[in-house]
Amino acid sequence: TDRHAFVVVANRLPVDRIDGAWEASPGGLVSAVAPVVREQAGAWVGWANTHDDSLEPFDFDGMSLVPVSLSHDEHQQYYEGFCNATLWPLHHDLIVAPQYHRSWWRAYREVNARFAQAAVEAAETGATVWVHDYHLQLVPAMIRAQRPDIRIGYFCHIPFPPVEQMAQLPWRDEILRGLLGADVIGLQREADAAKARQAMQKVLGMDPEELRGRVGSYPISIDVDEIRAAAESPAVQEMARCFRRDLGDPATLMIGVDRLDYSKGILHRLWSFEELIDDGRLDARGTCLAQIAVPSREGVRAYQDLRDEVEHTVGRINGRFSTLGRDVIHYSHHSYSTEEAVALYLAADVLLVTSLRDGMNLVAKEFATARRGRGGALVLSEFAGAAEELDQAIVVNPHDRAALKAAIHHATMLSEDEARRRMDAMADTVAAFDVRRWAQAFLHDLRDPASAAALSP
Ligand code: UDP
Ligand code: G6P
Repeated sequence: TDRHAFVVVANRLPVDRIDGAWEASPGGLVSAVAPVVREQAGAWVGWANTHDDSLEPFDFDGMSLVPVSLSHDEHQQYYEGFCNATLWPLHHDLIVAPQYHRSWWRAYREVNARFAQAAVEAAETGATVWVHDYHLQLVPAMIRAQRPDIRIGYFCHIPFPPVEQMAQLPWRDEILRGLLGADVIGLQREADAAKARQAMQKVLGMDPEELRGRVGSYPISIDVDEIRAAAESPAVQEMARCFRRDLGDPATLMIGVDRLDYSKGILHRLWSFEELIDDGRLDARGTCLAQIAVPSREGVRAYQDLRDEVEHTVGRINGRFSTLGRDVIHYSHHSYSTEEAVALYLAADVLLVTSLRDGMNLVAKEFATARRGRGGALVLSEFAGAAEELDQAIVVNPHDRAALKAAIHHATMLSEDEARRRMDAMADTVAAFDVRRWAQAFLHDLRDPASAAALSP
């Protein structure tokens, strides 16, 4: 392989191999990190969503992609098992119970070693290697053991669990030591960074002073230019008009845009929507909810159960309130391109983000950016990282049914002036710290940890 000065390592490459063609991969990590790697003409080590282990490194859209292969078994035990049935629920408030299996852990270790090896081979002397997310927490220490010349960063895109929950993990010591192979460990919010430091203190007995300079918060953001360009494009604006027309030109169009994941609170949103119609506070004839539910982790039981329950609930609500030719909920279990997502933001009046726990939620930031100067309302869970910055949203506890109903209702009642003022304030907040600033902040501290230590609280 060619050697690079800047190497990103993440479970998923920015493109998936699907039926012999390349398609954009789902999720916020790829949306945020791809523009950074493109700009630095860096390498990206990751899985290509195929069991074909003959893929060679290749160039794609200004990035050098280095595929790492996973066998069918590894995909089950490492990806579906340890990553998404152990770590994901552990890091999302135990919304479902994490499962602890020694065979999954063994697969996790083996796959992490393969990613570390690929990273080491792709990195030139003195390179910067930036490891991403919960799939690869052992990789920083594994790289460190072989290559003291490399500067290693790690960023966790998802929330960090409180120490009492982290303590459940039978392999907590190994995971935390794996992370500590990095020179700088980044998390979304200061609250997450504090929890990571606390876990390292309590579990490994580390010195809080030492941790303060190495574990910090770097809230992730979006490619503002890309979203703005899409929002200004006549083709996207035309698409927005078509969407709205195809949805029956409702007086109020609400949307939800999520991976079909239990952390997103999709059911809570549906239950509130149903009750509001029941109460007569939303008019079934004038209101429509378009819910995009991007297929996600379909081999994992909790995701299959969620899909059943969401689809059952959508069916019930439509059965109760739809009339022939007019559905109250339009549900789509597909993924859409960025342009289509932006067209939907432009078409909508209200975005519902009701996460029970969410590292950041880029959809919220994209919505505000696309809607600058156009008004509309954002209902935003206080349990999404984005709520810390987007304080002009209608911020709500999604577990509190009365409060969520009130928030959704409030969103339909904002005056045009207030809606525009709030949306513009949120868009400005996002624009002042877009994804390039995020990467710069992290990479700056990675190059110069002394200044990071000085800046930390
Ligand atoms: N997205 C997309 N197509 C879709 C739905 C979502 O491209 O059909 C993108 C969306 O624009 C955003 C990302 O997927 O950039 C989702 O990121 P977020 O942080 O909201 O959630 P995650 O999926 O990472 O939990
Ligand atoms: C979240 C995670 C990412 C992940 C994405 C999509 O954003 O933080 O690491 O890539 O979800 O999930 P998937 O399992 O399809 O990669």
